[in-house]
Amino acid sequence: MSQSELYVSLDIGSSSVKVLIGEVDGGSLHVIGVGNVQSAGIRKGTIIDIDATVQSIRKAIEQAERMIGMQIREVILGIPANGVILQDVKGVVAVNSENREITDDDLDRVMKSAQVMSVPPEREIVNIIPKQFIVDDYDEITDPRGMIGVRLEMDGTLITTSKTLVHNILRCVERAGLVIREIYLQPLAAGTFALTADEKNHGTAYIGGGSTTVSIFGENRFMATAVIPVGGDHITKDLSIILKTPTEQARKIKHQYGHAFSDDASDDELFEVPVIGADSKDQYSQRYISEIIGVRLEELFDLVLEELYRMGVRDLPGGVVLTGGITKMDGLLQLARHVLKTRVRIHTPEYIGVREPMYTTAVGLIRYAHMQDSYFGHVPDSPTVSASEHQSPASVNKKVPAERNKEKKPGILDKAKRVFDNFFE
Ligand SMILES: Nc1ncnc2c1ncn2[C@@H]1O[C@H](COP(=O)(O)OP(=O)(O)OP(=O)(O)O)[C@@H](O)[C@H]1O
Ligand SMILES: [Mg+2]
Repeated sequence: MSQSELYVSLDIGSSSVKVLIGEVDGGSLHVIGVGNVQSAGIRKGTIIDIDATVQSIRKAIEQAERMIGMQIREVILGIPANGVILQDVKGVVAVNSENREITDDDLDRVMKSAQVMSVPPEREIVNIIPKQFIVDDYDEITDPRGMIGVRLEMDGTLITTSKTLVHNILRCVERAGLVIREIYLQPLAAGTFALTADEKNHGTAYIGGGSTTVSIFGENRFMATAVIPVGGDHITKDLSIILKTPTEQARKIKHQYGHAFSDDASDDELFEVPVIGADSKDQYSQRYISEIIGVRLEELFDLVLEELYRMGVRDLPGGVVLTGGITKMDGLLQLARHVLKTRVRIHTPEYIGVREPMYTTAVGLIRYAHMQDSYFGHVPDSPTVSASEHQSPASVNKKVPAERNKEKKPGILDKAKRVFDNFFE
């Protein structure tokens, strides 16, 4: 495919809403638009105020739109891991064609047959991830298309979440005037690209703003996930209470002077902090606030250890990969190594414009969608972006994605991939 494709991802975080516009050309991603606004209406991954959330989404979308001078229509949406359940599923079909060659249609049917199982009414399917295909008695097949066989089986993992949680997120996105192209579980999309092939045999923890998602990768696939309701915003709150300063000030201090490992924090540099309800300012050192931050983060890493234990993880030969906004804090890596007592590294996306660990999920969503399109094929129902009324003529001429993929066959998994079609019924 010579033409570039546009993808827009939407990561509705508890701290900020991120929108990325990515152009994928010959397999490489270029981020051409970014929107990032502080979120309102979301707490710990859950919507608590629809109108406020819609506003935040609109603002982030508009920021990104201004960078390319076009209007965003379709987004790839990340779903948080709160309340997610993973279960093993199996699909079986007879190969359809007369010559017994497995086609896109057989792949589509086998994926669908794996979903024909009873999902309780309060749960919704998010994604299905194939583990292996089996053609007659030959297993461990990653792509059965083109092979000859009579019987096609698929072993996979079905990801379901709470219907209420997901429907409220979808409602906000739709009310923000957007069409949802695909939905992926956030840590699945983030971890798939944040981890190296070796690490995917092992473990990762993702630390977000409102909460911390711990996910386990092993045998080269996504195996388990859980959410701990503690994250960077707790540190802001702690600082705000202890330093008696407004939340916004506390956040700024955290970003500018925050340190997680008091042994390495500076005693010399002092900074002033405005006090709530007083005209005065108090002075603190980095060392002083690092003790407040360290207590909270140590608690968090202890909770991560407990969660790993609960998940049945007894050792992590691949170590731990941390990402998410808070991992920018100085000393966090040292503290994590100290508490987790294993190899730890921080992942930061390596793309111009988004070299910040808080963009790991948004980048992962684009890359995951592109990976799925490469595997399953995709023909857009409508362009991802369209000419806006206020754009400069030059930018419109540069990208008219309505033409993209014109020559492509209909993507089979435009059907099966959309296991969540029933969201819109
Ligand atoms: N330079 C920095 N130093 C310290 N903390 C930072 C820095 N930059 C961002 N953060 C913190 O990272 C957190 C936001 O991280 P992130 O954007 O990954 O979370 P989110 O996606 O909004 O939330 P969640 O995924 O939990 O719903 C906030 O607490 C923010 O204050
Ligand atoms: Mg997040």
